[in-house]
Amino acid sequence: MKVPEEIIEQIRRQSDIVEVVGAEIPLRKRGQNYVGLCPFHNEKTPSFNVSPERQIYKCFGCGKAGNAINFVMEFHGLSFPETLKSLAGKLGITLPQDSSEGYQIKHNRQELAYKILEEAAEYYAALLVEPIGRTALDYFRQRDFSTETIKQFKLGFAPDSWDATRKELAGQGFNDQELIDAGLIVEKENGRNYDRFRNRAIFAIRDFLGRVVGFGARQLGDDKKQPKYINSPQSIVYNKSKILYGMFEAKNAIRNKQSAILVEGYSDAISLFQAGIENVVASSGTALTPDQLKLLSRYTKKIIIIYDSDSAGVAAAEKGLELAVRQGFDVSIVSLPEGEDPDSIVKKHGKNTFNLYLRQAESFVEFKLSLYTKRGLLDTPPGQAKAIRDVVNIISMVPDRLQHDFYISRIANLMNLNESQIKRIYDEKSNIERRQNRKEKKQESPNVIRHGPALKLHDFDETDEIPDTQRKTIDVIESLLPEEYQLIQIALYDEESLGLILNKYNAGYDKFLTEDGQRLFRLITSVANKGNDIIDIIINGEYNEVDTQVLTQIAFDKQSPTKNWAKFGATIPELENDIHIRDIMLRLELISIDNEMQSVLKGVGEQPDAEEINALLTKTKILGERKNEIENILLRVDDELPED
Ligand code: CTP
Ligand code: MN
Repeated sequence: MKVPEEIIEQIRRQSDIVEVVGAEIPLRKRGQNYVGLCPFHNEKTPSFNVSPERQIYKCFGCGKAGNAINFVMEFHGLSFPETLKSLAGKLGITLPQDSSEGYQIKHNRQELAYKILEEAAEYYAALLVEPIGRTALDYFRQRDFSTETIKQFKLGFAPDSWDATRKELAGQGFNDQELIDAGLIVEKENGRNYDRFRNRAIFAIRDFLGRVVGFGARQLGDDKKQPKYINSPQSIVYNKSKILYGMFEAKNAIRNKQSAILVEGYSDAISLFQAGIENVVASSGTALTPDQLKLLSRYTKKIIIIYDSDSAGVAAAEKGLELAVRQGFDVSIVSLPEGEDPDSIVKKHGKNTFNLYLRQAESFVEFKLSLYTKRGLLDTPPGQAKAIRDVVNIISMVPDRLQHDFYISRIANLMNLNESQIKRIYDEKSNIERRQNRKEKKQESPNVIRHGPALKLHDFDETDEIPDTQRKTIDVIESLLPEEYQLIQIALYDEESLGLILNKYNAGYDKFLTEDGQRLFRLITSVANKGNDIIDIIINGEYNEVDTQVLTQIAFDKQSPTKNWAKFGATIPELENDIHIRDIMLRLELISIDNEMQSVLKGVGEQPDAEEINALLTKTKILGERKNEIENILLRVDDELPED
């Protein structure tokens, strides 16, 4: 159902951000805002700010920002329409049906697929407890799955037949095309479609909202010619790279424990859950994907990978850990003895032994080095050097730089080497990167002297996590000239102020001197004049994540005025706002004049001829005069300011 823009607007207007956030986390009033501990990252010092005035929240620790709708989406892990439904319900607003035909059709097809899959799951579950399902029930019993577990995870049995499932669902009114869409029957060229799952134990695969989206079907015998598992194909409701098996059951435990255990198999997840280790999800034999990590990161940024001890499992763990480290996860790995998987450990030795393994989880540094030891790599100096470089390389991917030193001393300890030796390799690497970065920055805008506002955005606790996007956000903010920062802040203040900048001072993005400033101002002007609060439009639009964070951060910073602003107090009278814009524009012009002077001087050859000297003098004279003029105006402007 697509909700019309007016209704979304009504929901947005009527939901109070303080009420919505306050219902989930404790908030304390501080100045005009409210603060609390951020629910989206780990922190000890509250940096989650809620502004009743702007109706937005902003965490200065992790950078997350949004309005009431975004908060409900993120916090409860709901989709946009689901969030609207929930908020509308609370506000007593009724949502109309969608009129757009294409959306309606696709939406209906999805709804239908969910319904069919739910019916199929029920059918398979019912067969499991009938005589015909005996082999499958025995299989699950042999795995020690209780009756309750079997129910909870919607386990079942697909009969040994080419058309039993198709007939059953046809009887409920679903046609072949609909069953093909749901992935339950396979289309044949001769038109004779047949059931995909035959004579197999069935695991219903659900999304994090609990909807059945597909099935994993395990063979009951040990036929080497048959695949062990047959899974649902990609479909309008099943995208395997976005699904983590068990997420629906596990999500509360993951949020509460602030960690997720990642296993490979369906049975591993079920066994652990049944044993009371509930924060467990399975990647279902595929390599961990960025989308799966994104889903997880709604609940926690800490994962413990426990894969099978076979070579495929180890390789998958190595790959998964790198991906997760890069996305800012705190990753540790548990290695199991030969031939074991999580399921076999809990089954044989119980929960307590499993917890012992959990406690022995290693950081990726230890895990990698012990792998290298096993592979004999550490026996030779070149092997050692390669191992260290590999591990240092992963360390450098950890977005939180505060952790780098800690990991470096870890390698040194483990390898009985001097910390400074490792540090040298690390520095070697980061120097190369830094040099490249600097080169790139220089090429961006050659003449700009960068002196961003000395902003103290947030006091970071040593142990707080700082996500990658927030680091980039800070980088962008620091690359802005103070004048640019202030101009953006005024532009975001209200439409009138932006109007002043654009019309009275005729300032386009080209008046900005840094590339970041130009891009940000262009973004602002592109969304202006749409009647809504600019920041709200940007937060709700699909704009670059870092830019969105930068702009919300700047908008939020309004209450901590710069030196000049302090003189005006918190609210800025029209007149001073106007003068302030002019002041900023002039200062920007001054900087660009200085830049131009420099480049004019640089452009002169070793021994200029008379003509060149003349041109040079004219040019610098014009620039110099304008500079004087500006400085005079600025002095006068300062006179107009009230004294403190
Ligand atoms: N898998 C798959 N297709 C296969 C083999 C495996 O989709 N042919 C997926 C399944 O999700 C499976 C996971 O990979 O659960 C792990 O594979 P494996 O360790 O072989 O299976 P287990 O679940 O441990 O199987 P079992 O204990 O039943 O032998
Ligand atoms: Mn396994």
